Amino acid sequence: MSQYATGITVVSTVVDGRRHGLTVNSFASLSLQPLLAMFGCALDAALHEPLSRSGTWAVSVLAADQQPAAAYFATRERPGPAGTDQFDGWPCRPGPVTGAPLLDGALAWMELRTWATYAGGDHTIVVGEVVSMEVGPERPPLLYFRSDYRA
Ligand SMILES: Cc1cc2nc3c(=O)[nH]c(=O)nc-3n(C[C@H](O)[C@H](O)[C@H](O)COP(=O)(O)O)c2cc1C
Repeated sequence: MSQYATGITVVSTVVDGRRHGLTVNSFASLSLQPLLAMFGCALDAALHEPLSRSGTWAVSVLAADQQPAAAYFATRERPGPAGTDQFDGWPCRPGPVTGAPLLDGALAWMELRTWATYAGGDHTIVVGEVVSMEVGPERPPLLYFRSDYRA
């Protein structure tokens, strides 16, 4: 898989007023009619439980200069689900439909309502119906290839 280049996203949700985020490169398009996208969420990811409760999520597609965000949202030591808000100090705005945080400076944003979930080994395959989307100014993307960040 390390030979397969991907973009990088931060998937987010909000539940009980607390915002959660996770660095994700398994994000993929799935269906045009209805408009569906998907990602794999590790069963032991801190996002897993709040996501199953909220039923809605947002995706920020990271730009080349957002490697610090990718690293932060992939770090176990960041504030946990029972601790303080994971987006504290990260410039963002609430998604217009779901309220899930959208990171400032991303290339594009989507909000999704969970449409189905499927067991996938130690991950859950989460399929969402796109309920809003926005594209930012054209800039280079952040990529992941051979286990490293690339631009
Ligand atoms: C580039 C990159 C891509 C990742 N993609 C995924 C993914 O698609 N699904 C997932 O569950 N975890 C993914 N991870 C791992 C999680 O981001 C990381 O394990 C997570 O922060 C676990 O900590 P947490 O339980 O505190 O959230 C990825 C990590 C990196 C660095």
